Amino acid sequence: MSTLFAFLHHLAAFALVSAIAIEFTLIRQDLTAALARRLIATDAVLGISATVLLIVGLLRVFYFEKSATYYFSSHAFLTKLSVFVVLAILSAVPTLEFLSWRKALAAGQMPAPDAKKMRTVRMILHVELAGIVVILLAAAMMARSGWR
Ligand code: HEM
Repeated sequence: MSTLFAFLHHLAAFALVSAIAIEFTLIRQDLTAALARRLIATDAVLGISATVLLIVGLLRVFYFEKSATYYFSSHAFLTKLSVFVVLAILSAVPTLEFLSWRKALAAGQMPAPDAKKMRTVRMILHVELAGIVVILLAAAMMARSGWR
C-alpha cells in the first residue's frame, strides 16, 4: 500500500506541476477561443490533481508512512503543507477568471478579460511555480528527518 500511495502521490504531483507549467506558457500567448478552452481544460486537470495530491498526501501522513506525530512535529512538513494551502487559495483567482469565460465561449464570443486581472493571473502562476520549488525542497527534507 505504501508503494501504491507513493506512486499516486508522485503521479498527482507531476500532473499538477505540468498543468501549472502549461498554464504559465499559455497565458503569455494572445487569447483566442481555442486557447481559452485549453486554459479551462488545463485548470480542471490542475484542480483534480491538487485534490488527489491532498487526499493521498494526508492518507500517507496518517496511515502509510512515518506517522502523523512524526510529520506534524516536522517544520519541513508544516512548511510544505502551509505553502500548499496558500497556493491552493491563490489558485482560486485564475480558476474563477477562466470559469468566467465559459459564458462568452458558449455564446460563440471571445472572452474579454481585464488587462489588470490577466496581469494578476500571470503573477499568481509565477508564484505557484516558485512555491513548487519550496514544496520540493521541504518534501526532500521531511522525508529524511531534516529541519525538525
Ligand atoms: C505540490 C504539492 C506536492 C508536491 C510537489 C509533493 C512532492 C513530494 C515528493 C517529491 C516527495 C518525495 C520526497 C522524498 O522521498 O525525497 C513527497 C513525499 C511525501 N509527501 Fe508530498 N508533495 C506535495 C504535496 C503534499 C501534501 C499536500 C501532503 C500532505 C498533506 C504531502 C505528503 C507527503 C508525504 C507524507 C510524503 C512521504 C515522505 C516520507 O517519505 O517520509 N505531500 N512529496
